[in-house]
Amino acid sequence: MAPLPEPRPLDFRPELRALGTDGAAFQRLVAASELPAGAMRRVTVGELDVLVAHTDEGLVAVDDRCPHMSAPLSIGALDGCVVACPLHEGLFDLCSGEPVRIPTTGGLDPDGRYHPTWSSAGREPKVDPPGPKAEARRLTRVRRFRYYPLRVVDGWIEVALPG
Ligand code: FES
Repeated sequence: MAPLPEPRPLDFRPELRALGTDGAAFQRLVAASELPAGAMRRVTVGELDVLVAHTDEGLVAVDDRCPHMSAPLSIGALDGCVVACPLHEGLFDLCSGEPVRIPTTGGLDPDGRYHPTWSSAGREPKVDPPGPKAEARRLTRVRRFRYYPLRVVDGWIEVALPG
């Protein structure tokens, strides 16, 4: 039987490349065979927790931190390109870099537009009394993903990380 083709890296938007990766050395993080379609894995390198994910559109490497309040996405759920955060029900597209559903806490989207708090299951949204906590939620901006360049060499997923 012919071997399966190696998975390919996602072709991410150049402006979303992670800072500090120009000229950065590629490092072996995980065997491609250990990351089938739909799988995610956290790999820690020094102070960086990297999320390597096998999406419908290819392999991606980003920080294992939710673009909202930094929860580890590696313990969320991946469906196609969209990862669900285990905290505030935010959904984020690992293929485009964009949020799909703003977290229950509301706040600002990447372009700075405000979104109100909301709640699933027909419950009333949890609204903080006016004060610094409510203000912090209102002013928290969901970011777009920043991508680490990734390649597959000899069956290994290699990622360029800042030095
Ligand atoms: S930390 Fe992920 S949705 Fe809030």
